[in-house]
Amino acid sequence: MDLQQTVAVVSGGASGLGGACVQVLAEAGAKVVILDLDSERAAALLAEYPDSVAFARCDITNDSDVSEALDLCEQRFGKVTAAVNCAGIAIAEKTLGREGPHPLASFRKVQDVNVAGTFNLSRLASERMAKNEPDDNGERGVILMTASVAAFDGQKGQAAYAASKGGVVAMTLPMARDLAGSGIRVNTIAPGLFLTPMLESLPPAAREALGRAPLHPQRLGKPKEFGSLAAFLISHPYLNAEAIRLDAGVRLP
Ligand SMILES: NC(=O)c1ccc[n+]([C@@H]2O[C@H](COP(=O)([O-])OP(=O)(O)OC[C@H]3O[C@@H](n4cnc5c(N)ncnc54)[C@H](O)[C@@H]3O)[C@@H](O)[C@H]2O)c1
Repeated sequence: MDLQQTVAVVSGGASGLGGACVQVLAEAGAKVVILDLDSERAAALLAEYPDSVAFARCDITNDSDVSEALDLCEQRFGKVTAAVNCAGIAIAEKTLGREGPHPLASFRKVQDVNVAGTFNLSRLASERMAKNEPDDNGERGVILMTASVAAFDGQKGQAAYAASKGGVVAMTLPMARDLAGSGIRVNTIAPGLFLTPMLESLPPAAREALGRAPLHPQRLGKPKEFGSLAAFLISHPYLNAEAIRLDAGVRLP
């Protein structure tokens, strides 16, 4: 899909990896609507790209919030051709910890945001995309989802998070199969360790240790490196039904 013709909704676009997708896409000529709970963080991006970026306050787990955000995107930019799912939450709780068994409520909350929220935006966006005129490749839309290397090498305390990200990886192929007839591709990025507010809250020593974990280059990923892969996945017509690790070769112990 031609990035200059792309109109994308980016969940979690106010911060971190989603924010970098907004910047990379806007700089490539796309129009973007940020779907996020955090309007304060989104304000800087809106000021940076006033003509090509809009904001919809939206809880991705909520049906009507997401529908209204997609309406806003169509009203402002005429269509929806890409949905980039970056909204997500992480917790660290052991299956059996000092305080007792992992609370079921926090396990469910992580699945709700990371799996059901991702599915919610993807399913509702696909309905809008299916109405687009196909481009020269017969393409009407692209869906991107964000998993994590925790889907494959989840660590201690990551049962809930790893389950949610495994769910995102697992739904990539069936969703791509469901939407192929509508000319919509579906891909997932499984990031390793990126320097975003999710990791910035760690003590410097912990961050430094994490930065030594990748094979090469031995550093944390830059959010724009995620954004550039997202833009590539949107633009490449032959990439479909794939989950790609973006991790400089890291394998979490
Ligand atoms: N940073 C990393 O190293 C890393 C590694 C692997 C996977 N990931 C995944 O990448 C994605 C982005 O992570 P990040 O590091 O940029 O995090 P982040 O905390 O910087 O950004 C997440 C954004 O999602 C928004 N959000 C959370 N719940 C929401 C909801 N219900 N509705 C709408 N918006 C919501 C937050 O407001 C925030 O702006 C997440 O899915 C995360 O699990 C991150």
